Amino acid sequence: MKTRITELFGIRYPIIQGGMHYVGFAELAAAVSNAGGLGIITGLTQRTPEDLAREIARCKAMTDKPFGVNLTFLPALKAPDYPGYVKAIVDGGVKIVETAGNNPQKWLPQLKEAGIKVIHKCTSVRHALKAESIGCDAVSVDGFECGGHPGEDDVPNFILLPRAAEELKVPFVASGGMADGRSLVAALALGADGMNMGTRFIATREAPVHQNVKDAIVAATELDTRLVMRPLRNTERVLKNAATDRLLEKEKNLGSAVTFNDIIEEVAGVYPKIMLQGDMDAGVWSCGMVAGLVRDVPTCAELIERIMSEARAIVTKRLTGMVV
Ligand SMILES: Cc1cc2nc3c(=O)[nH]c(=O)nc-3n(C[C@H](O)[C@H](O)[C@H](O)COP(=O)(O)O)c2cc1C
Repeated sequence: MKTRITELFGIRYPIIQGGMHYVGFAELAAAVSNAGGLGIITGLTQRTPEDLAREIARCKAMTDKPFGVNLTFLPALKAPDYPGYVKAIVDGGVKIVETAGNNPQKWLPQLKEAGIKVIHKCTSVRHALKAESIGCDAVSVDGFECGGHPGEDDVPNFILLPRAAEELKVPFVASGGMADGRSLVAALALGADGMNMGTRFIATREAPVHQNVKDAIVAATELDTRLVMRPLRNTERVLKNAATDRLLEKEKNLGSAVTFNDIIEEVAGVYPKIMLQGDMDAGVWSCGMVAGLVRDVPTCAELIERIMSEARAIVTKRLTGMVV
């Protein structure tokens, strides 16, 4: 399949694995890239820029295909060493960066100078236009259904994607709620040039997370996610568990007075316990509504080939057969 996204990134299929905290290690990124998609290492999961440099080298040893690094700019107790991470990316010869969260403008000159293509992930048309105007090469448009941070506008992809298509000149991928060949064809029909998946890629054989995490996603339905941190304007879609219930109870009791400190136990430093040790109630963790469509744990190659053959069948048989 050839779209503006496959051309931009030099990949076989227009399928991207979004950066995911404590999931986007070299093993997953390399598996997705080897399968013809674009795998992405999560920069901030690496504790230091030196660790990120090592992770990039590990990924290069596992694939000769293009892969990217995610740099997330979100509110943090202590700002990460962004200049160090950017240097590790540039020195590591990585040619694709997925930025997310706050405006990445400050880092663009350095990235561009190194010949790096930047895809910015955002949740609204106005932020997508901003990303285009500051020189991002592409945008990942994350709808309200997405796992992680859906923003505060709550516009689902059936409206957000065609709105993005109306306004944007740069290529964009649909993100949030994408799982299979139907998602890909729908995304292309709505004007996107490909799709980005998070939750679906966690439930793959190569995702280096505890089996409990994969089992939880397979067991979850589309009704099992919750929105937390709304009062802090840092909304996150997470899987319902004991920590989610506790956090939401605190938000209910404290109302608009709730602070980050009140919920620190449920959100700070919980990812290693959940993703690596499989302690599923250790805290809240991002998960998309699309968990309701995830029923197995295939390899990345099986998943991507299945998506592509489904997509081909929908376009050439189902849709073509409807046109009279
Ligand atoms: C467990 C998990 C962790 C995530 N961590 C990050 C992150 O650190 N940075 C980021 O930009 N996006 C992160 N995301 C968002 C994904 O990259 C992607 O945009 C999102 O999952 C798409 O929605 P979907 O889950 O419905 O496919 C995370 C998502 C999940 C499920």
